[in-house]
Amino acid sequence: MRNIDERTITEAVTRSFEGCADPRLRTILSALARHLHDFAREVRLTEEEWMRGIRFLTETGQKCSEVRQEFILLSDVLGLSMLTIAMNHAKPPGATEATVFGPFYVPDAPECADGADIARGAPGEPLDVDVRVLSEEGRPVPHARVDVWQADDDGLYDVQVDALGQQRRARATLRADGDGRLRFRTIVPVAYPIPTDGPVGELLGASGRHPWRPAHIHFMIEAPGCQKLVTHLFLDGDRYLDSDAVFGVRSSLVVRLERPASGVPSLHHDFVLAREVAA
Ligand code: BEZ
Ligand code: FE
Repeated sequence: MRNIDERTITEAVTRSFEGCADPRLRTILSALARHLHDFAREVRLTEEEWMRGIRFLTETGQKCSEVRQEFILLSDVLGLSMLTIAMNHAKPPGATEATVFGPFYVPDAPECADGADIARGAPGEPLDVDVRVLSEEGRPVPHARVDVWQADDDGLYDVQVDALGQQRRARATLRADGDGRLRFRTIVPVAYPIPTDGPVGELLGASGRHPWRPAHIHFMIEAPGCQKLVTHLFLDGDRYLDSDAVFGVRSSLVVRLERPASGVPSLHHDFVLAREVAA
């Protein structure tokens, strides 16, 4: 293989993967090479731009830590996360839609009892949440595991406030009761900007995009016989619903708070889990 030029390089690289024993890996690497080359040809990539891209990806990796995943953030703002979710989580009609996982989930959230105040001192207006977990047939799914996490009134997740993660707040692992019902107190979520102090923030700034996400609460719901659901509930009326920095809003996930004349606002919602598909 010699004298490779702009026209023949793509075939040379895809051929180089022909001996790959894993057929799926072969498909992915060949397609990656084809699309990368087409991209470079389409924009007539200069050497300076190639180097800028290399530096950008290097800085993205260097920004990652135990509590910061800049590559997921990059995938999110490029729409790759939502595209992957849309392709892999098409739901049957009536089932709750999925949206981005985001970088702020942690696996060791406090386990809280039904009715608990999961805010644990996080600043914000109190909110009572009352949800049900149902099957596609509309029957209660008993004892589902429900992980909840959200930002506080300053738009920050606990892991951003306390990088060592000593103080977990505005997040919890809970269990729905035997009737699929779960209640907890938290705080009213507010819109917040995704982290802009890294290369992804630079990309947004350079392209004239804002970094805001509409107010939301994250939910991850798991129950035997059902597909795991990773989703949010967004608040109706938020100014960023139609320009979410990570393209995660689905109309079916927008909810209206009940605001009584006096007392704590409340949120009611039924989550519908899709049936597990046989492998
Ligand atoms: C989040 O909602 O936590 C989030 C999602 C994507 C990027 C940044 C934050
Ligand atoms: Fe979030």
